[in-house]
Amino acid sequence: MHTLQTRFTSLLGIEHPVMQEGLGPYKTVHLAAAVSNAGGLGTVSIPGISEEPVAGAAKLRGYIEQACELTDRPFAVNVPVGTDKHGNVPPFSKAYVGAVVDAVKDPDIARRLRVITTSAGAASASRKLIDGSGLLHIHKVGGTRHALRAAADGVDMIIASGYEAGGHTHSRPVHTFVLGPSVADVVDCPVILAGGIRDGRGLAAALALGADAVALGTRFVASHDNPDWHGAYAQRIIDAGEADDIVFQALYGPSRALPSDAIAELAAIEAAGTMTETELTAFKDARLIAAQRDGDMVGGILPAGQISGAIVDLIHVAEFIPGIVLEAIKVLDRLSKLKTV
Ligand SMILES: Cc1cc2nc3c(=O)[nH]c(=O)nc-3n(C[C@H](O)[C@H](O)[C@H](O)COP(=O)(O)O)c2cc1C
Repeated sequence: MHTLQTRFTSLLGIEHPVMQEGLGPYKTVHLAAAVSNAGGLGTVSIPGISEEPVAGAAKLRGYIEQACELTDRPFAVNVPVGTDKHGNVPPFSKAYVGAVVDAVKDPDIARRLRVITTSAGAASASRKLIDGSGLLHIHKVGGTRHALRAAADGVDMIIASGYEAGGHTHSRPVHTFVLGPSVADVVDCPVILAGGIRDGRGLAAALALGADAVALGTRFVASHDNPDWHGAYAQRIIDAGEADDIVFQALYGPSRALPSDAIAELAAIEAAGTMTETELTAFKDARLIAAQRDGDMVGGILPAGQISGAIVDLIHVAEFIPGIVLEAIKVLDRLSKLKTV
């Protein structure tokens, strides 16, 4: 087997420097297990952010136990920890982080559930909840100063996610090619680069930019191994052309998605100001889940990255992960033979 060993693979004890990131707000248990079984790091996503916190935490525990039945390898759980306008971590985030920390008290789960990833906010509030649990803490950022702050907070690794990424993106756009080296320059911990990566060329480029691994979202949605979601979602990504994606105001600020009627509906509701913040959040959450679970491509909200315009097929994860690593090795080998004068 061909592998590329980096600080990411060493810390986790896995074969490949490739991660499937959180793809909430629904369920990615089978996809996460497929990625981990293929030697990467799969991520279980939360059941939704408008779940009642105790019920949501119980549901997430069920997802974690199901993932443990499907893989013996390390996997992660992602919890968005964006704060409300008063700077507080919402109750659902605390409940989900608590569920992850509680789950690893069971040694059989702790053997597999090795990582919690946090996103959409600052690492500091969740750090206190995670510290001492034995979990590795990976935090996602979209800017260099946020990376510095997460490193100072003591996270184990950082995902640097460029503006072209699917899902929540940043109000101050910094693209992957700029963000990767800037973050790698200022933090000592391993960096995982995300946003616009779909193959071994992207992996080789990320390593060249100073990253230790790559994290992919949209590419993994268009997969044979994501049976928790309706197949129409993957097909919509395949059908998308270059620059079809748009950025709209989502749960924690701007998010990149493929257009649907729901986005116009959302804009009209926000302009009319007829919903409370809680109602609006529930509306967005429901429409995201309608797309992922039920395949509603008209009334649903469809987060997807710019890379959806370049995706033309469904992948088999078991072949895809070693395949992109092999491709990256070939790219790096070819580049090492470039004539120097
Ligand atoms: C459908 C979809 C749902 C997402 N949901 C989440 C989420 O719940 N939490 C999170 O941190 N990021 C989420 N993201 C962002 C991904 O974790 C990842 O950062 C992004 O997809 C990487 O860029 P790429 O799509 O170009 O590969 C989502 C992305 C997509 C496409």
